[in-house]
Order: sequence, then structure tokens, then C-alpha cells
Amino acid sequence: MENSGNMKNLAIPEHVAIILDGNGRWAKKRGLPRSMGHKEGCKTLENIVEQAARMGIRYLTVYGFSTENWKRSSEEVGALMQLFRYYMVRFIKIANENNVRAKMIGERSRFDQDIIDGIGRMERETKNNTGLTFVFAVNYGGRDEIVRGIRKLVADCQEGAVKPEEITEEVFSSYLDTAGMPDPDLLIRTSGELRLSNYLLWQCAYTEIYVTDCLWPDFNREELEKAIAAYNKRERRFGGAK
Ligand code: FPP
Repeated sequence: MENSGNMKNLAIPEHVAIILDGNGRWAKKRGLPRSMGHKEGCKTLENIVEQAARMGIRYLTVYGFSTENWKRSSEEVGALMQLFRYYMVRFIKIANENNVRAKMIGERSRFDQDIIDGIGRMERETKNNTGLTFVFAVNYGGRDEIVRGIRKLVADCQEGAVKPEEITEEVFSSYLDTAGMPDPDLLIRTSGELRLSNYLLWQCAYTEIYVTDCLWPDFNREELEKAIAAYNKRERRFGGAK
């Protein structure tokens, strides 16, 4: 592990989730189009994946594109899709250099076929890496994920593969996109908003939340370290009101 001085003796959370926000505000402050904020946001994301891998974080789950984001202007959605195409290819190299396994969660069938193929390629070509698992939530919504999970579970019940009385929290978790992953220990939200925005609703039941005013394109290793230091100061009360 390559922690800098102020990270010594700090417990590294196993799973960090991030709601990245503020790309638009970052661009506006500079008189730039919103797409430039997203481009800078992609560079930040590459850097944070590398930093998280070096710190020894096991899972990093980032909210890249929500089910709500389709409502943005066609120009902005188009620019985001172009960035997605470009960075997905670049990301395979970065992931393999850093022993990172990439995985997508969300409902991918709404994307153009070349993007769906690109997601599949990225997952295949990084699947044997054993370090950080980087989970990118695209066309993701927590409620949508729960409804999709319920549909699969009901279908299995109808086929007799699962009996209703066998359904537990663990069984239901295995029907979500995040099946097999631990719940997030720490949720970071950039740009000051105090909302969950339909992100990992089931999984964040007991997650510590850290909000920073830092805009996502300005987020860096130091900001990530600050979030982890704040997480270390929280008193986790298991067994009581968690
Ligand atoms: C948040 O800033 C940004 C998004 C919701 C989408 C952009 C995501 C990335 C650049 C990561 C890479 C993902 C893809 C799919 C290329 P905002 O636009 O909501 O900022 P604002 O609140 O300041 O307007």
C-alpha cells in the first residue's frame, strides 16, 4: 500500500461509493460548455480509480449516468455518450496496468449497440484482474434496480426455483446488480448536495455518508484521503441504531 503520511494508521474502507456531481458548475465557473466539465470529470475518474487501487480499496462504485440523466438536453446526452465511448476503450489499458477489474451496473439495453459491446469488452478484458473492482453505474437507478430484481425473483418463484418463505435479505441482495459485493462502507458525494439521488438505495442502508463542497473535476487524492480520514472518525454503532 502506498499511503501518504496522513493515511498511516487509518482503516481503508472495503467499499467506497461515489456520487460524482458538479461537472456543470465547474465548467460554468470557467465560462466553458458543460461538456468540458464532463471531459474533465472523466480525467478525474481515471485518476481516482488509480488512487483507490493504490490505497487498497477493494470496491469503488461510481454513479456515472443515472436513469434520470436521459432528461438532459440531447446535446449533453450525446456528448456524454461520446465521452463514454472514448473512455471505455482507454479504461481497459488503465485497468490492466492497475490490476483493476471493471464491471457495469444498471440497465444497459438502452444504450446504442456499440456501447453495449464496449461495456462487454471492458468487462471481459479486465475480468481476471484481482485488485480493485471498479463498478460503474450507468443508466442506473436504485428503484429501477430493485424493480428489476423483484421481476427476476418473482419469475424464479413461479418456476419453483425459490419458495417465497425462503426469501431473506441475503437472497434478495443476490437479485440486485451488485450481487456478490459487500455493501458500501462510505458514500462520498461531491458538490455539496445532501441527497441520495436514487443511488444504491438498498445497499446504503448503513453506509456512512461524506459530503464535500469540492466539485468533481477538482476531486483528487487529497480529497479522497480527507473523506477516508472523516470516515475513520465516525463511531460505528453496530447492534444499536446503526
Ligand atoms: C455530474 O455533474 C455529472 C454527471 C451526472 C454525468 C457525468 C459523468 C461523468 C463525466 C463520468 C463519466 C461518465 C460517462 C457516462 C462518460 P453535473 O452535470 O450534474 O453537474 P452540475 O450539478 O454542476 O450541473
